Amino acid sequence: MSASPDRRTVLRGAALAGAACFGAAACGTGEQKPDATRPASDAPTELGPASAVPVGGARLYAEQRLMVSQPTKGEFKCFSTVCTHMGAVLNKIEKEQGVCPLHGSRFDVATGKVVHGPATRPLEEVPVRVRNGKLMAG
Ligand code: FES
Repeated sequence: MSASPDRRTVLRGAALAGAACFGAAACGTGEQKPDATRPASDAPTELGPASAVPVGGARLYAEQRLMVSQPTKGEFKCFSTVCTHMGAVLNKIEKEQGVCPLHGSRFDVATGKVVHGPATRPLEEVPVRVRNGKLMAG
């Protein structure tokens, strides 16, 4: 099964938005959206063993700019770690919340919703599934 353009765009956009922010002198003045104009790969991203994500917790995949949570055993959620405030990348998880280092926004790892601003929009959700014990995002 191949990913839809929207799913691929989210993954690709997440990586590009974060890279663009850190490559520029400033991260802009508004909330960022994934770049829908870039070409996307058809291949889902393999994140490694599903067992690496704790039940009731989450794990960051820094290189892929993704966060995967497992709210209940066998149920996985995946989100872009590009902050919806100004595009910085979440760099840690505390108390089941993904934390943005730039202005301190916090996002629920199970839903992607904002727990603490200044961000107002939830993290972009990315489809994820388990195939042969491995997480596949996108
Ligand atoms: S970029 Fe401002 S809180 Fe994340």
